[in-house]
Amino acid sequence: MKAAILVESLTGNTWKAAEGVADLLQQERWTITGLSKVKQPDHQSIHEADIVLVGTWVHGAFVFGQAPWNVNGIANLPSMRGKKAAAFCTFALHPGNSLDKLTSSLGDTGAYVIGGLAMSRSKLPEHTEEFASRLLSATDSLPVGA
Ligand SMILES: Cc1cc2nc3c(=O)[nH]c(=O)nc-3n(C[C@H](O)[C@H](O)[C@H](O)COP(=O)(O)O)c2cc1C
Repeated sequence: MKAAILVESLTGNTWKAAEGVADLLQQERWTITGLSKVKQPDHQSIHEADIVLVGTWVHGAFVFGQAPWNVNGIANLPSMRGKKAAAFCTFALHPGNSLDKLTSSLGDTGAYVIGGLAMSRSKLPEHTEEFASRLLSATDSLPVGA
C-alpha cells in the first residue's frame, strides 16, 4: 500500500504520532509517499497514494466544544475520489466527537473512509501502534480494487 500522511500539529504530538504510524507501516512494507501539512499539502504524495491518512489535534474548552483543528482545511484538499482514507486526532482529556467530525469531512473529499482513532497524548506510543494495526487489518480485509 502507498500512503500519504497529512497533519496539523501545534506542539508536535500529532506530528510525532504520524511519524510513528509511518515507521510502523513501513516495517510492514508500505510506502509512505509523503508527510506534509494539511495547510500545505504535498499534492504529488496524495496523487501517488492508495490511502490518505489525515491527523489533527483536538481544540476546545477541554470538556465541551471540542473540534478537530483546521477541519475546514480538509475541504481544500484535492478530490480523493477512488482513494481510501483514515483519520486520527490527538487530545489531552476528552476528544468529544472530534473524530466523527474529522471522518465526515474526510468523506466529503470523496475518499472511502476505512476508519480512525482518537489518540490520547499521554498514550501516544500505544495508540500509534493501535492505529497502525487497525490500518493493516482494515486494508487486509478489503476486497481487491476497493
Ligand atoms: C488551545 C488548546 C485547546 C485544547 N483543547 C482541548 C480540548 O478541548 N480537549 C482535549 O482533550 N484536548 C485539548 N487540547 C490538547 C491538545 O488537543 C493536545 O495536547 C494535542 O495532542 C495537541 O496536538 P499537537 O501537539 O499536535 O499540537 C487543547 C490544546 C490547546 C493548545
